[in-house]
Amino acid sequence: PPALRVGMIGMGTVGAGVWRVLRRNQALIAARAGRPIDIVAVAARTPARAAAVLEGAPGVRLLADPMRLATDPGVDVVLELAGGSGAARGWVLAALAHGKHVVTANKALLAEHGEELATVAARHGRTLAYEAAVAGGVPVVKALREGLAANRIHALAGVLNGTSNYILTRMQAGGLDLAAALAEAQALGYAEADPALDVDGTDAAHKLALLAANAFGMPVRLDAVHVEGLRGLRQGDVAAAAQLGYAVRLLAIARRGAEGVELRVHPALVPERHALARLSGAANGLLVQGDAAGEAFYGGAGAGGEPTASAVLADLVDLARLPAGAHARAGVPTLGVHSRAAEQPA
Ligand code: HSE
Repeated sequence: PPALRVGMIGMGTVGAGVWRVLRRNQALIAARAGRPIDIVAVAARTPARAAAVLEGAPGVRLLADPMRLATDPGVDVVLELAGGSGAARGWVLAALAHGKHVVTANKALLAEHGEELATVAARHGRTLAYEAAVAGGVPVVKALREGLAANRIHALAGVLNGTSNYILTRMQAGGLDLAAALAEAQALGYAEADPALDVDGTDAAHKLALLAANAFGMPVRLDAVHVEGLRGLRQGDVAAAAQLGYAVRLLAIARRGAEGVELRVHPALVPERHALARLSGAANGLLVQGDAAGEAFYGGAGAGGEPTASAVLADLVDLARLPAGAHARAGVPTLGVHSRAAEQPA
């Protein structure tokens, strides 16, 4: 069968990870997908850096304009890894309108424009896939959409921002202050281009809004998330908590209640033996309470090039498994948008 032709926008930490993992595991990915997955074009802000990553690989076109890639007839899937919610929205809308599926790691884009993008994807019968937008290499979106699809979900509780978990780990174990720990997280490629998104809890709120849409069949409601970040926290607070047997964790919580779904992100004391306390460094974890499965826990690497690439490539494998030229799995919504009538918060 013909290869799935992928056009990639953005060649930063994640883009380079996708390229590397795809090269390394090419044969096994093709075997599992049922056909090869080829990156045929790349649009990058710094073409020289992209060219260095690609090492002159033959057959990959380097484009300066992401919009040209998004509308290119030789591309089946647009992979959006540029980030930001302004220009990226335009590229994704153009790609969907031109009949392409879209895979993105862009949680800010989806948290702000997910409803619109999901509606446009449905109108064109295309898939908007975003496993990589939440929890890096831990497949929590697929867990909610596939593994737990038969459950009525009561609550979610997670550590969804790797950078802030890295900071908290280093404040506790290394005695670092917030600024020094953040600098390390940035050097390791975990942080957002604007690290305030990590430290202030916004990135975790983006991810929580996406998970809640999937878990509760509700619209993506970023404005409904109560957010408190790490700014007020001193190294002494983290050390004192540790002495009492607690880890400080930036928790993201969604709970179904009498008044609807409550959504919040804030630092919390977690007993040190708890699964969420044991996540160290840039790890992420998610606890899900479902009526049938009971309590399920997912954990692993929440940020970084290759873990995030793992999630991106899983979405590409999903798409490659659709028959060539096929539409999205008929009637399966990308987000909570179509199921509003189906599931009211209790
Ligand atoms: N800055 C994000 C984090 C990257 O630290 O979790 C992964 O989404």
